[in-house]
Amino acid sequence: MAENWEELRQECLGCEKCELCKTRHHVVFGVGPKEAKVLFIGEGPGENEDLQGEPFVGRGGQLLDKYLAAVDLDRKTNIYITNTVKCRPPHNRDPKPEEQTACADWLRRQIAILRPAIIVCLGRISAMRYIKEDFRVTKEHGVFFKKGNYLMMGTYHPAALLRNPNNKPDAFEDFLRLREKIDELQLDIAKNYEKE
Ligand code: URA
Repeated sequence: MAENWEELRQECLGCEKCELCKTRHHVVFGVGPKEAKVLFIGEGPGENEDLQGEPFVGRGGQLLDKYLAAVDLDRKTNIYITNTVKCRPPHNRDPKPEEQTACADWLRRQIAILRPAIIVCLGRISAMRYIKEDFRVTKEHGVFFKKGNYLMMGTYHPAALLRNPNNKPDAFEDFLRLREKIDELQLDIAKNYEKE
């Protein structure tokens, strides 16, 4: 039987499995309905996320929300967003492999409850960890990979798009492909699961 989501969240909020717990303000567990069929995995919380306890709330998050809205998706109603590591790496450095490993079990347990049909990796850290070790965002963004029960796709990290806006049209195409895939699979992405 699947474990209880709220109990998992509470356990995760007290996590001390790696050094990142010493410098964090908040554990960023994730946001969205636990019925979501599409899961987004970013890299790790930045400064704003660490202060607010929610993923992707800075400028990158605003860009992500725009792309999502363009294909009729949003974090409040039909997708779930979390990160490879749930605590902020100091000075926004890349999360170390051992930190990613220490954190992976939280994500595994979240996925066991969510049971998403599609997983989208935002950026190379997440795509290399969860799609394949040698994932190249520039070459393989927007491609769907079948992994076990999931269809996985990697795309540009929103922060990378802010640094290099030339890739924005490609990233937007990826969101259009995601929408096509949702429609093709006839996924139930209800606007309000609470009312079902
Ligand atoms: N970058 C990420 O990868 N995740 C966040 O939550 C914020 C910024």
